[in-house]
Amino acid sequence: MKNLFISETPSKIGKTVELYGWIDTVRNHKKIIFIDLRDRSGIVQVVGDESYAALSPEDVVKITGTVKKRPEKLVNKQLPTGEIEIEAASFEILSHAKTLPLPIDTDGHEIDEEVRLKYRYLDLRRPRMKQNLIMRSKITTYIRNFLTQREFIEVETPILTKTTPEGARDFLVPSRLQQGKFYALPQSPQQYKQLLMVAGVERYFQIARCFRDEDPRADRAYGEFTQLDLEMSFVTRDDIMQLTEALFTTMVEELFPEKHIMQKPWPRLTHKQVMEKYDTDKPDLRKNKDDKDELAFSWTIDFPLFTKQTSEDYYHGSGSATFAPSHHMFTAPHPDDVEMLDSDPLKVRGQQYDLVLNGYEVGGGSIRIHDGAIQQKIFDLIGFSEEQKHQFDHMLTAFTYGVPPHGGIAPGIDRLLFAILGEPSLREVVAFPATSGGKIAVMDAPSEATKEQLDELGIKTLT
Ligand code: AMO
Repeated sequence: MKNLFISETPSKIGKTVELYGWIDTVRNHKKIIFIDLRDRSGIVQVVGDESYAALSPEDVVKITGTVKKRPEKLVNKQLPTGEIEIEAASFEILSHAKTLPLPIDTDGHEIDEEVRLKYRYLDLRRPRMKQNLIMRSKITTYIRNFLTQREFIEVETPILTKTTPEGARDFLVPSRLQQGKFYALPQSPQQYKQLLMVAGVERYFQIARCFRDEDPRADRAYGEFTQLDLEMSFVTRDDIMQLTEALFTTMVEELFPEKHIMQKPWPRLTHKQVMEKYDTDKPDLRKNKDDKDELAFSWTIDFPLFTKQTSEDYYHGSGSATFAPSHHMFTAPHPDDVEMLDSDPLKVRGQQYDLVLNGYEVGGGSIRIHDGAIQQKIFDLIGFSEEQKHQFDHMLTAFTYGVPPHGGIAPGIDRLLFAILGEPSLREVVAFPATSGGKIAVMDAPSEATKEQLDELGIKTLT
């Protein structure tokens, strides 16, 4: 294992060091050659003799040399290692690089995205993308520490599962052992986290991969994305909102000190207020929308439990129903409005809360129904057939064995980071995102299956 990162070299003045990395640039002054050597942590200047002319950009090398303090007038204040340089003694080319098909010393926004995604492993070498990956890792680490310190348990739930209706189309996976049957990839771990509350976990979280087959947008990934999924028992709406607010306020202050949170505590606006004032349920409350360091978090609360059903709703059952859940079918009605489920469902408020940042919905959650009779009533209102209701028998059965009142939230990690950084697309914060056409360009997925694979699954394709 290499035991020294380039960022650590300034503390090794006078020492002989072994460095591993990529050649960033070569400046040939005939007798003396300056190399910028790069690794994950940064860049350092290496000074070598004419033999170093054999090196070219992006070669992977091992360089051994002595760390020297630079004379005062040659210090490069722009570079964290700018006070030193490496006087090279020897080098070894571990792997030679061809000329790259795309530049990596720019921010990359100017390059055709298809090319960037095809050569994503090169695109990720650019400092901006590397930094995005680092921040993403720091975010999930921060979340894990914050929640485990508060007695949350991280639990993994199945990926090969049954449809979880979050309003999008499912991805299906054929079963070999039970031919003709399909798993669905989870649109979120919603039902599992509620079942974990029945199991007595009380405080659950998961950095969970979610799968939705829906058309992509700048702020919506095609195929898969990641949520911080969390759920708690014996809580009120305020408990969940306060916890989320404390988590992300401290996280931004620690990991993004250059960012300024506009208002603390975050404003809470009712659905009615935001629709009347901003004509959207995710208002952008920034004062100065050109300032990339301004973060305006807010909550939108008191959503109506139902909206009028449209042909795009994936919930519809018999076709006779007129209601679709605003959020999802497990959201509890406001206790004061339960009576109206029979008389005027569109007036019923749901115990849903959306987390909004700079005009994006970065999270959604609710207090859940824990009463089987109310859950049945919601199924009826959204027009479920008896057969569709049976798909949720496990929930209703579980609720007969002692279910704690519970609620939760699921902020999207990709969308949160994208909004904090002010990136133009969610793909900028994902290592290997799908293209807008649903292709993972590096691997050229999806790809055809062989006849043998399909036969084994009992599947015939039409094309
Ligand atoms: P919801 O469907 O509102 O709720 O999703 C929660 C959050 O997940 C993120 N998100 C997405 N991010 C990127 N690409 C997508 N296609 C995408 N879709 C959703 C958003 C969104 O706010 N189970 C419930 C949560 C709960 O009730 O606890 C759920 O999934 O940031």
